[in-house]
Amino acid sequence: MIKNVLFVTLFAVVIAADAKKPCCGPTKFMAGNGASVGQVITDPDTNTSRSEGFFTYQYGAFDFERKMFGYNMSVTYPNGTSTLIRLIQNYAQKYQYIILDALQYCQKQQVTEPQPTNCIPNNATWQSSFRIGGAKGGSLFADSWTYKFVHPKDAVEGDIVANVFQDDCSPFSTTFIGDRFEGGRKVPLISMGGLLNLTSGIPHPEEWFTVPDFCPKEINSLTTNMARSASYLPDLEFFQLPLFF
Ligand SMILES: *[C@@H]1O[C@H](CO)[C@@H](O)[C@H](O)[C@H]1NC(C)=O
Ligand SMILES: *[C@@H]1O[C@H](CO)[C@@H](O)[C@H](O)[C@H]1NC(C)=O
Ligand SMILES: *[C@@H]1O[C@H](CO)[C@@H](O)[C@H](O)[C@H]1NC(C)=O
Ligand SMILES: *[C@@H]1O[C@H](CO)[C@@H](O)[C@H](O)[C@H]1NC(C)=O
Repeated sequence: MIKNVLFVTLFAVVIAADAKKPCCGPTKFMAGNGASVGQVITDPDTNTSRSEGFFTYQYGAFDFERKMFGYNMSVTYPNGTSTLIRLIQNYAQKYQYIILDALQYCQKQQVTEPQPTNCIPNNATWQSSFRIGGAKGGSLFADSWTYKFVHPKDAVEGDIVANVFQDDCSPFSTTFIGDRFEGGRKVPLISMGGLLNLTSGIPHPEEWFTVPDFCPKEINSLTTNMARSASYLPDLEFFQLPLFF
């Protein structure tokens, strides 16, 4: 009996020492962030649905200390149609610029919530550990975490799986399965993405965070002709989600 209790106690200690704690990744880095997104769009008038898919790729500077993100972004449909924009997001001051450099077009808006984070949230559940890499070595060890987003607290509702390297908690892949919301209506959404070519630090912050002279000082809306011609601007709400975790 005593032996058993001892065994159970030891076992519990071993489990506790082994329990994985949510971690935080690098705070300042350059990286590419690519994602494949699929969604089901319903026309409220005809009540007919269609599915669509597209690829997004962002490359730029991610500064979680200053809460600033500056990157080029492309959105590409399978038919080859592609849109290129540049973003400067300032979450400390809650605004963002959407920039089309070629047209000298710039729009100042409220930032897109939720604010990206470099941490696995405390409510996440550790799922598994694994190794990635080929048979010849050069392996990296990783942890898989899952957690939920809940509407209306979060802009989307559903399940996230985030995989991070054990080494420094750098995220390398994220999957979201759930819904986004469009005026109270659910839009089923699946997205899979990840970071690549991550390098520590931001060697040229001015290149990514300097707001061009042609940008407005105040929040503006699509009013000018040029803006109207740029109204193919993507709906950032969901292109952005989930950026990291
Ligand atoms: C390509 O697909 C997108 C999204 O479905 C659509 O908006 C666009 O008009 C298409 N372009 C061409 C050239 O078919
Ligand atoms: C980002 O886009 C701008 C044009 O908006 C371009 O001048 C710059 O070279 C791009 N940077 C990268 C790294 O692709
Ligand atoms: C888990 O934490 C994240 C980040 O704080 C939050 O957005 C989400 O709503 C939380 N999920 C639940 C189920 O509380
Ligand atoms: C990633 O980095 C490698 C090596 O520097 C480079 O050759 C490659 O083009 C980069 N990939 C992307 C998608 O930027």
